[in-house]
Amino acid sequence: MVSGWKHEVTKNFDVSAGTYDLYCDVQNDIAETLAGHLPELERPDVLEIGAGTGALTHHLLERYKQGHFVITDISPRMIALAQYKLKRKKAFFLVQDGENIALSQRFDLIAANMIFHWFENVEGGLHRLRRYLKPGGVLYFTIPGPFCLPEWKAVLKKLLFPSGMYDFTKPPGIYHEEYRTFKYPNAASFLNTLKKTGACTPIPGYRPLRGSQIIRACRLFDEMYEGRITWHILYGCLRA
Ligand SMILES: C[S@@+](CC[C@H](N)C(=O)[O-])C[C@H]1O[C@@H](n2cnc3c(N)ncnc32)[C@H](O)[C@@H]1O
Repeated sequence: MVSGWKHEVTKNFDVSAGTYDLYCDVQNDIAETLAGHLPELERPDVLEIGAGTGALTHHLLERYKQGHFVITDISPRMIALAQYKLKRKKAFFLVQDGENIALSQRFDLIAANMIFHWFENVEGGLHRLRRYLKPGGVLYFTIPGPFCLPEWKAVLKKLLFPSGMYDFTKPPGIYHEEYRTFKYPNAASFLNTLKKTGACTPIPGYRPLRGSQIIRACRLFDEMYEGRITWHILYGCLRA
């Protein structure tokens, strides 16, 4: 059964589908790097989880011109947009919860960019996905790491405000990690980017900050960091 929290996650990504491409520089950069790590494969059967509007899909289709693709996302509007942008005969675009995929075939490659942190149970989800690999198949993914967005977390801590952000953990299979610092005009612009990309569902049970608290946090963030925010990114690979 899909939980209320997952419905909320899906709704927020659905609502942001139309603005996602204007605000997804971070995800685009990481998708490009991940694409550079993918193996040479001839005519692979490829499954993508949480494709969004197609940042990684575009690289997969270019890379494996003879491949067969099943491209999935939990958000109907995201996957509809990906399909619209990337019309291709050999790709099937499906609405699926990547944590509980229901498909009747197996794959040479499963790929996912910046999506597993939206699973309710990351390790359980990865375990189930591995069962969809053919013998010799590989699952490549990226996910935010435990030291993601430290500047914003530090501001909330200093003000003794609760954080609605996840404590990102390190799943199995991590072979590479990196820090990428992005510069936003200010705190409001950073928060707006999270909203416009749909990445705005807080942890279950979180009580949102009041307007006055958000203003204090934004002011302090701007004083201390001048719009700089750091993403800690993990790159993972799991085999069948
Ligand atoms: C940050 S976006 C990344 C999209 C795309 N991979 C990219 O790199 O631009 C996260 C995507 O994961 C999808 N998503 C969230 N939870 C999901 C789940 N349980 N199963 C499948 N997709 C999910 C969202 O709808 C959204 O499109």
